[in-house]
Amino acid sequence: MRLRDIRDTSVRGKRVLVRVDYNINVAGGRIRDLARIQSTVPTLRWLLAHGAGIVLVSHRGRPKGRDVRMTMRPMIRPLARAIGKKVTFFSQPIRSAALRQAIEQVRPGTLGLLENIRFDSGEERNSLVLARHLATLGDIFVNDAFADSHRGHASIVGVARLLPSFAGLLLQTEVKELTHLCGRVRRPYVAIIGGAKISTKLGVVKQLLRRTDYVLLGGALANTVLQAEGLAVGRSLTEPAMVKASAGLSVAQPRLKIPVDVIVSSGPGTIRACSVGQVGAKETIVDIGPDTVELFRRIIVKAKTIVWNGPMGRYEQPPYDRGTLAVARAIGRTPGRSIAGGGETLDAIHRSGQAPRFTFLSTGGGAMLEFLEGKILPGLRAVAQT
Ligand code: 3PG
Repeated sequence: MRLRDIRDTSVRGKRVLVRVDYNINVAGGRIRDLARIQSTVPTLRWLLAHGAGIVLVSHRGRPKGRDVRMTMRPMIRPLARAIGKKVTFFSQPIRSAALRQAIEQVRPGTLGLLENIRFDSGEERNSLVLARHLATLGDIFVNDAFADSHRGHASIVGVARLLPSFAGLLLQTEVKELTHLCGRVRRPYVAIIGGAKISTKLGVVKQLLRRTDYVLLGGALANTVLQAEGLAVGRSLTEPAMVKASAGLSVAQPRLKIPVDVIVSSGPGTIRACSVGQVGAKETIVDIGPDTVELFRRIIVKAKTIVWNGPMGRYEQPPYDRGTLAVARAIGRTPGRSIAGGGETLDAIHRSGQAPRFTFLSTGGGAMLEFLEGKILPGLRAVAQT
């Protein structure tokens, strides 16, 4: 898919509405992971250098109406630091006349950030009225939010139909890197899929099984697959509704590798490694076991192309992070092309210190998976060349 590049149009003297994804965790008013902000800087710098004023729009969390806990305010300081410019915050509701008046302050070379777009209930249902309000805030629309491009929302799709609309630099890079994975790649090609829910990933797992040489499954989603194989998983997190759909997956697909052993916990501080099938009724699977780590490592180190989404266990709670960190290290040692995406995956990669060794870290989680599944993302279609 060829996208309309923002660099192919003149933005001088224009006010540009830029959709970004600053859906970032804030703990105690502070942001630990600045990647989503930093990754938008090239587009913002380009726009400012070419004489545009910028109005940024993003969502945070899944609020039901206005909710101060999910304000965009904590983004101002790190954004101002990243871009080296003052950022004006517009807290007024999107549909208000007060906002329309205040936005006049955004002159060429300056930038402002709107309050969380999901405070407006029209965002998620792609309200035309909301899209029209958004369209009054800029002369041009730029989508630089790859991570949200699987959402057919007003600030992604609706407004793009009402203004001349283009793809930002981050969006283009993401699409280029991920498109590469869908074409001819160097082999062996290995996909690693973890995380909690097989329901959201079964489609992409099946698609990757067609394209790759190996698909390695870990995390709680593998529990459902183990259960579908008739193995006891104790108190582990599973999706009973997905057991039928996951049945026979690994038997029918020898290239699909599921854990052969796991780390289980039966309470604080009580953990042990055991082979799958030996999980006690009161135990919970919290990580992949050492034999699985070794099995996965051997496959990973031979790979020439790797894609990874989803941790192998409860990585945020050491020592249950061992499997995930081992996967990150194995990829880090592999000279092939490696791409990873998803909030938790990127967090784990940063914790492992292996981030610089990856070829590309996508800001997209769900968006990346849908892209790899072969779906046409509505946000991309809205800025695609016809
Ligand atoms: C993400 O973090 O994956 C994106 O910001 C999308 O968020 P959503 O799943 O709430 O739409």
